[in-house]
Amino acid sequence: MKSPVSLSTKPVAIAQILFSQGFGTRRHCAALVDHGLVSVGGEVVEDPQQPFLTEGLVFEVEGKPWPFHEKALILLHKPAGYECSRKPSHHPSVFTLLPEPIRNRDIQPVGRLDEDTTGLLLLTDDGPLQHKLTSPKYHVPKLYQATCKAPLDEAQLRKLVAGVLLEERNPKLAAEPVNAVSAQALPDGRLQMALTEGRYHQAKRMVAAVGNRVLTLHRQQVGALELPADLPVGGWIWLDARQRELAMSEPGEAACSD
Ligand code: URA
Repeated sequence: MKSPVSLSTKPVAIAQILFSQGFGTRRHCAALVDHGLVSVGGEVVEDPQQPFLTEGLVFEVEGKPWPFHEKALILLHKPAGYECSRKPSHHPSVFTLLPEPIRNRDIQPVGRLDEDTTGLLLLTDDGPLQHKLTSPKYHVPKLYQATCKAPLDEAQLRKLVAGVLLEERNPKLAAEPVNAVSAQALPDGRLQMALTEGRYHQAKRMVAAVGNRVLTLHRQQVGALELPADLPVGGWIWLDARQRELAMSEPGEAACSD
């Protein structure tokens, strides 16, 4: 089991740090140090038990710098053709796009995107954050852009915001209309719509319920956090505390606090 102590409050043995960051078993992490493959501040660490303060720590493993993250929060620019599951059925897993130490951590996608959906996918091992970002209770809007079979007309846009009934196995869910927080036609004819729930194929089923069809779907924003324009498809970044806050904020709130 990983250390129950908050790693940032007191110095921690380097082998334990490597273990907490997904570098393999305790034995493997100690062996990485014993083989001279780990350095801090340009100095090779000789002893697996040598302690370091974790806050702001950047260590190197086989020459590659790794910033310490007590909890992982990753933003991935999801390509089409990848499944958001560790055990995919028909396509490669999004986890294959991440380096092994990150894959080894107990990270989960924050709300799954369909295999053919592209765009902003968060992954984290922070349970409370996962809950805040996915539970409809917290109303975090996710902004989607869709090309549809036909441009949506005013009546369809209005229905999306007013709410539509979707077929659901759960009769309680089936009886509750689901609505978009906003829905608008972009100048290029695409639909832009913000959703706070994450029901199965929700955007596609809502568009079908108003008599249209989604052809491509892209997630551009979670809360006030946007997909970085310079992040290539398939690329990923660590998110910092500020970006974490942005993901949990309403887009308008974030604009005011900047
Ligand atoms: N709604 C969908 O239909 N698919 C997604 O991937 C996300 C939201």
